[in-house]
Amino acid sequence: MKKKLILDVDTGVDDAQAIMIALAAPNVEILGITCSHGNTTLENVLKNTLRVLKVCNRLDIPVYAGCSEPLLSNERHASYFHGKDGLGDVPDPDAPGLELVQEKKGVQALVEMIEQNQGEVTLVATAPLTNLAVAVQLDPSLPKKLKALYIMGGNIESRGNTTICGEFNFVVDTEAAYIVLERYTCPTYIASWEFTCRNSLPWSFHDEWLAVKTAKAAFIKNISRLSSEKSKSAEYQKKNSAGKGFSACDTYALAAAVDDTLITDSEEVAVTVELQGASTRGMMVLDYMELLKKKHKAVIMKKVDLEKFKQMLRRAVM
Ligand code: RIB
Ligand code: CA
Repeated sequence: MKKKLILDVDTGVDDAQAIMIALAAPNVEILGITCSHGNTTLENVLKNTLRVLKVCNRLDIPVYAGCSEPLLSNERHASYFHGKDGLGDVPDPDAPGLELVQEKKGVQALVEMIEQNQGEVTLVATAPLTNLAVAVQLDPSLPKKLKALYIMGGNIESRGNTTICGEFNFVVDTEAAYIVLERYTCPTYIASWEFTCRNSLPWSFHDEWLAVKTAKAAFIKNISRLSSEKSKSAEYQKKNSAGKGFSACDTYALAAAVDDTLITDSEEVAVTVELQGASTRGMMVLDYMELLKKKHKAVIMKKVDLEKFKQMLRRAVM
């Protein structure tokens, strides 16, 4: 039986790599991809997602337009890292057009796909959580129908990559992150910012990985030139408490969703998001003291099997 996935993305470079891992996984069926504002505008996310599907010859997978801005916060993008277009600013003159985007709105599609596949869908969220927050408002029983939720977002030691104490996805739509961590009581796995930095791979692996002579490897090499340069700079590493290695944040949550034996160390703890803090808004709060009396605990990923992870990355470019 294939694992049924729905991906909620803000296709940027690491989302693109995550989608490619999912497409290459033999035991996975992607029911659909819902797009959100985030790394770039929703329109660019839609175009970028279609470009990824085109290079993987999978334009059959439905792509839906979700929310174009956060619930309350002002829009914020990450063009300094992902490029103005969100995919490294290397436009493709033959890119697929937006006419391929489904008519149905992304949040409606999310609710319907989960309704039609009750108990079978693993939802992978690698964008700000606006679509998921609106979906649970539309169908409050949605989380009960989910098999599992994997999130790339938040932080475990208040390290920020966007504000002093905030990771991008949880800062861009803090209210949505709060709603999701409150209302999604299905098995929830979180790949935090620090976790992705601490499970990075050597750049030598990255270079060998993209040296293979395939269109997929060439595509990733092309779109990731800008972000790789950024990631290697000492200033970026210092400012973002990022590690020195190669770590495409979204690929960890996706890879774990495809094969949860990848996770070799984790802890279960109730979590929430700070909404008010002058310096801490968007920070993920881990309630080890259990003062919040939350029954639902999230699985905080700590370590992954890097050899298995490399295998999944290699398969993604073949
Ligand atoms: O903080 C990293 C996250 O923000 C990733 O999902 C990346 O794609 C950006 O959206
Ligand atoms: Ca993302």
